[in-house]
Amino acid sequence: MDYQSPDGANLRESTLTRDQLVTVIKCGLPGRDMPAFDRLSYTDDRCLGRTQADLDRMGLTLPDPAATLQAREVERLVDFLLSKVVGRGPMDRAKCVDFWGEEVDVCTEY
Ligand code: HEM
Repeated sequence: MDYQSPDGANLRESTLTRDQLVTVIKCGLPGRDMPAFDRLSYTDDRCLGRTQADLDRMGLTLPDPAATLQAREVERLVDFLLSKVVGRGPMDRAKCVDFWGEEVDVCTEY
């Protein structure tokens, strides 16, 4: 099986705060290929004061997310990222097994 490296950022190396993580997930990163997961992002000014018209004027596009997330889902996702991924240092065997909850094949690479 071919392994494809993920499209996104390495979140283990992220230095974003909790609030910044929530904002990036809800609002995406216009012009930088990270989709916005808030269904209403850019329909009003909730994303850094910007609307779709602002993005159009600035020539910034966003990919569509595969699905959108409720605010409480984003909060839980960020809880998870902060407990297991962001700021937790490089992946190793113990963290890999903890992440998956059991010994899985993919952890043998560590
Ligand atoms: C729910 C799933 C996702 C979460 C939680 C997530 C989270 C994040 C976060 C927090 C960042 C900022 C990292 C930093 O600056 O420290 C980021 C960046 C990025 N994400 Fe996502 N992401 C998700 C899905 C995706 C998907 C589906 C794609 C692409 C199809 C994507 C593409 C990117 C890219 C390209 C960046 C880096 C942009 C740059 O640094 O220029 N992300 N993501």
